[in-house]
Amino acid sequence: SEVDWDVVGAEIGDHAHFLIKEIGEQPRSIERTLRGRIDERFNTAHLGGLNLSVREAREFRRVKILGCGSACYAGDLGAQLIEDLARMPATSESASEFRYRNPVVEPDTLYVAVSQSGETVDTLAAVQELQRKGGRVIGIVNVVGSTIARAVDGGIYIHAGAEMSVAATKSFTSTVAAFALLAVHLGRMRDLAPTEGRRILDGLAALPGQIEEILDAEKRDGTIEAVAQEIARRNSVLFIGRRRGWPVAKEGAQKFKEVSYVHAEAYASAELKHGPLALVSPELPTVACVPDDDLFDKNTSTLAEIRARRGPVVALAHRALPEDLADRTIVVPRSEPELDSILMSVPLQLLAYHAAVALERDVDRPRNLAKSVTVE
Ligand code: G6P
Repeated sequence: SEVDWDVVGAEIGDHAHFLIKEIGEQPRSIERTLRGRIDERFNTAHLGGLNLSVREAREFRRVKILGCGSACYAGDLGAQLIEDLARMPATSESASEFRYRNPVVEPDTLYVAVSQSGETVDTLAAVQELQRKGGRVIGIVNVVGSTIARAVDGGIYIHAGAEMSVAATKSFTSTVAAFALLAVHLGRMRDLAPTEGRRILDGLAALPGQIEEILDAEKRDGTIEAVAQEIARRNSVLFIGRRRGWPVAKEGAQKFKEVSYVHAEAYASAELKHGPLALVSPELPTVACVPDDDLFDKNTSTLAEIRARRGPVVALAHRALPEDLADRTIVVPRSEPELDSILMSVPLQLLAYHAAVALERDVDRPRNLAKSVTVE
């Protein structure tokens, strides 16, 4: 029988806050996103709710993703996954900007609306505008039966369970995992080789255990909590990354500012020299996403520029970086390069959480914010 995932996790239990409870739930929430969707036989993802025939799905030439806040940043990662794996041009945009642009809606573009709550007014308005112009829209939604879930032509429920804290956490990582499934699904109808599909699906299946490792390491060493206590005392924090690290930086900065009330700004690493480098000083810490991939040297040369100006650096990396590049490294387990962003997001959630606790903020209900924005 159908389990009502929306009641999964609605109780705080013996946790101090919903935010830390929900961060800790991610091994299970990702498992639920993946459950029943990995097709071992054809090395693809089984996504029955899309309501697209193989023929229809193959005819799309492009993908456009819309959402607000964390849903939009998850969409940025989704766009990269789809480009990487399905080789379809894909972009993500804030639904609130899109809806007022009189957007050009094309029949060979697959539109994807992303919303945890399924109630965000700007995302719903974007869906309605698309449908009025004949666009085909699928949803990536958490809350079953929500307004956006009912409005779209099909979609993927992420089944992350109830998310009570205003700041999105498990819905973010589950949405990115759902995008990876969609990218494999679209890819395997195009030129993604079976072995490549398999590689991503195996990588996804390994994520719950790897998130467990991140959470266990933090319980043991408290590295992230210690870093959070240091940087929570600053006036501002810079988050940087490139390629898949750039949306991770955006989401990391968003989390940090919304729960700690400390100014945080995300920048694409290569853009630093076009402005924010002027701010770098011993007073401005930088949190940098430095995966051990083909852009590693590019990332470390950016760190060298920051260090030359005596900026403190906290690196998220697959192995400890030398002291001349980073004061602290938060070591993250290695996934497939396309999926590293999911693992790198988790320490940044913990960083925001511990900064908010250190500053005695209203962790689950930050001032001026709402869990879902249903009026403009
Ligand atoms: C609010 C929440 C965010 C969320 C955004 C979009 O601003 O505070 O955490 O990312 O809305 O919400 P949705 O439910 O559409 O994903």
